[in-house]
Amino acid sequence: MTHPQPVPAPDAPTVAAVVVLAAGQGTRMRSSTPKVLHTLGGRSLVGHVLAAAEPLAAGTTVVVVGSGRDQVEQHLAQVAPTALPVVQEEQLGSGHAAAVALAAVPDLAGSVLVVNGDSPLLTSRTLATLVAAHDEAGSVFTVLTAEVEDPTGLGRIVRDERGAPRAIVEERDATDEQRAIREVNAGVYVADAGTLRRVLSGLATDNAQGEQYLTDALAPLVEGGAPTAAVRADDPDDVLGCNDRVELAARRRTLNDRVLDDLMRSGVTVVDPLTTWVDVTVTVGRDAVLEPGTQLRGVTTVGDAAHVGPDTTLVDCTVAEGATVVRSHCLGAVIGPRATVGPFSYLRPGTDLARGSKVGAFVETKNVQVGEGSKVPHLSYVGDATIGTGSNIGAATVFVNYDGVAKHRTTIGDHVRVGSDTMLVAPVTVGDGAYTAAGSVITSDVPPGAMGVARAAQRNVAGWVRRRRSGTPAAEAAAAAEGRAGAPREDSSGPSRTGDDSEGQRSR
Ligand code: UD1
Ligand code: CA
Repeated sequence: MTHPQPVPAPDAPTVAAVVVLAAGQGTRMRSSTPKVLHTLGGRSLVGHVLAAAEPLAAGTTVVVVGSGRDQVEQHLAQVAPTALPVVQEEQLGSGHAAAVALAAVPDLAGSVLVVNGDSPLLTSRTLATLVAAHDEAGSVFTVLTAEVEDPTGLGRIVRDERGAPRAIVEERDATDEQRAIREVNAGVYVADAGTLRRVLSGLATDNAQGEQYLTDALAPLVEGGAPTAAVRADDPDDVLGCNDRVELAARRRTLNDRVLDDLMRSGVTVVDPLTTWVDVTVTVGRDAVLEPGTQLRGVTTVGDAAHVGPDTTLVDCTVAEGATVVRSHCLGAVIGPRATVGPFSYLRPGTDLARGSKVGAFVETKNVQVGEGSKVPHLSYVGDATIGTGSNIGAATVFVNYDGVAKHRTTIGDHVRVGSDTMLVAPVTVGDGAYTAAGSVITSDVPPGAMGVARAAQRNVAGWVRRRRSGTPAAEAAAAAEGRAGAPREDSSGPSRTGDDSEGQRSR
């Protein structure tokens, strides 16, 4: 029914600390936004990594920041306020970054998970499997690996004759033989904190990039006879990084496929998975239908048997069971049970539609409570208002909430009938059971049961068309009608024998 973050079992594997490496520049993104802040599926790259690591229940989470660190730190304060940002002044390599992180938590003992900040498809399950394998093997350094089709650009896992991991070799430093290896380093490691501290302090920079590679931690440990391990991820997609915007789009697609697969398996109909985009933070109920072109974003909840789309975007919305939202754009709105929205509605924050209510075509709402069974069917703006139950707001009504300086509220009672083209000039109240006449500009309260009329009385200027528009089809049609009715050709009524254009046009 939902897309939950896995809940850790009581005996789930844990680590003492999580270290996220996020100081790199991400040059290939060609962006003024630091790489780890690019988003997919409703979270930043680093946000996904932190969420995946959350069930490991680490007492300490360190995020190494460097490039664009102010932006990254601000973001962390929002999404992971307990994480400790640690600055790597110069980007001297992933090994150096990990060392800087460990230096910030000198008392740390036990297992530490070190993870690249640009692997948004990592799952909690894969991390749990890695940590469990590490614990079981009594390893001091365990690397997550994956067998991929195309290993280009990634570190290769070199194993010995018995299949034990021996080294991680970066592509640029690899021999042709090593480049043929398709088992790659995921950039995710579990290590004993003390051991890692020690081995990182001895890292050299004699490689193609002149950097301190975290990957170089493995070989010396193996040579020294320490217990190490390499664990293959079940799903190679899990470990894919994100270095440019082509890869970002590919990861976004994969993540979306996962979310939609979960939804469909839990009883949601997704008519067109290719054009339906759902953030990981969204929940959708059983027998809900998502039509093509639907986007569900942020903290959005869609209830059982609700119908959303086609071509609808919901951001931070709650849609209750059995509601319908068609071809609409909704932000921060609450749509009640069996309520209907659209086509072409624009619901803005603070919109709260009660059970069975309706917002129809070309209606914009903001900061409004619409009561049970009430309707705003066509072409209206409804802002800063309370509408009671069973009321109807006629077509083209405007809740005139803004006097140019301040916003004011309108209150509509129960079973009110607001006539079409009414201007409700707030602050104003229309009482229970009251009506307003079509075309009224309502500037003062209408008591319960009254009819509010606020428009000029109609007056007809007889014969005006014949006099002022002679020779037009209108004049001919009028003459023909007069002939049929045997009406006199000369004017017998109306004040306007002199033909007052402006007055004639003002009457309605
Ligand atoms: C790294 C691995 C590679 C692995 C791949 C998986 C190294 C040397 N190589 O390659 O074996 O297959 O990830 O995606 O680690 N970072 C810092 N500070 C630095 C440098 C890097 O924080 O000074 C961070 C980056 O932000 C990034 C991570 O470390 O999150 C990895 O760095 P990156 O340059 O992306 O390494 P890759 O070339 O992708
Ligand atoms: Ca990378």
